[in-house]
Amino acid sequence: QSLLKTETLGKVIEYQESCLSTQIIAHQLAQEGTPSGTVVLTEEQTAGRGRLARKWDSAHGKGIWMSVILRPDIVPHKAPQFTLVAAVAVVRAVEEVTGLKPAIKWPNDILLDGKKCTGILTELQSDADGIQAMIIGIGLNVNQSMENFDESVQGIATSLKMASGREVNRQVLVRSILFHLEQYTELYLKEGFAPLKIIWESFSVTIGKPVLARMANETLEGIAEGINDDGVLQLRTADGRIHGIYSADIEMLNR
Ligand code: BTN
Repeated sequence: QSLLKTETLGKVIEYQESCLSTQIIAHQLAQEGTPSGTVVLTEEQTAGRGRLARKWDSAHGKGIWMSVILRPDIVPHKAPQFTLVAAVAVVRAVEEVTGLKPAIKWPNDILLDGKKCTGILTELQSDADGIQAMIIGIGLNVNQSMENFDESVQGIATSLKMASGREVNRQVLVRSILFHLEQYTELYLKEGFAPLKIIWESFSVTIGKPVLARMANETLEGIAEGINDDGVLQLRTADGRIHGIYSADIEMLNR
C-alpha cells in the first residue's frame, strides 16, 4: 500500500483471499459510504461476472480481480466514457510492466494476439441526485496457462504470461494500473473526454474495420467509423446510415 504512487486510489484496500465477486463487495462498501478510490482485491472469485450477464473465469492467484469505487461528479450518461478511460489505463500499465502491445476492442475488451486478456465491467449506484458511486470491475488474466481457463473460453482467452512467455508480478501491475487510472481520471475530470478519446482511438483495433455488432434485439453489420464524444460507437451500414451503438458484442470481420 505504501508503495502506491497515487493520491486517493487504493488508500482504502479491501483484500479477501476468496469471494463470490469483487463487484458484490464493492457495491456493499459503496452503499456503506466508503470513500472514492476504495479498491477491492481478491485472489479468487467463485462467481466472477462479466458484461451481458456472462460469467468471468477467475482462477485462484492467476489474475488481477479488482473493483475500484469512484465517486466522480459526472452525469450518468457520461458513465460509458469512464469505462473507456479504465481500458486506456490498463493498456498503459500492461505496456509499461510487460512491454507487450495490447489493443482495445470497443468498448473495453483488451486483446493480445487477437485474444482477450482483460474485461472491464462498469456498474453504477445512482439516485435522483445523480451518480453515488461508479464501480469499475477489472479482470486481467496474468499468469494463467491454457489449462487454467474454462474450456468454453479456451481459444478466445489469453493471459500476459501466455503472450509474453514470462510470469508477471501482479503487485507491480496493480500499482501501475491504479497510477494510470488516477492520472487519466484527473485528466478526464479536468479536460473532458476529448484527449482520452484520442488516446483510446490510438489503441483501438475496432475503428475503421468491418464489424458485426450483436445487440439485444438486432445484429448490424458495418464499418466502425469511430466513437463520438460520449464514447458511443458509430457504425456505418451498407446503406450509408450511421448507427449509434451503446452496448453490443462486437465481432471483427476479417475481409
Ligand atoms: C467482461 O465481460 O468483459 C467484463 C469482465 C469483468 C471481470 C471483473 S473481475 C473483477 C470484477 N468482479 C467481477 O465479478 N467482475 C469484474
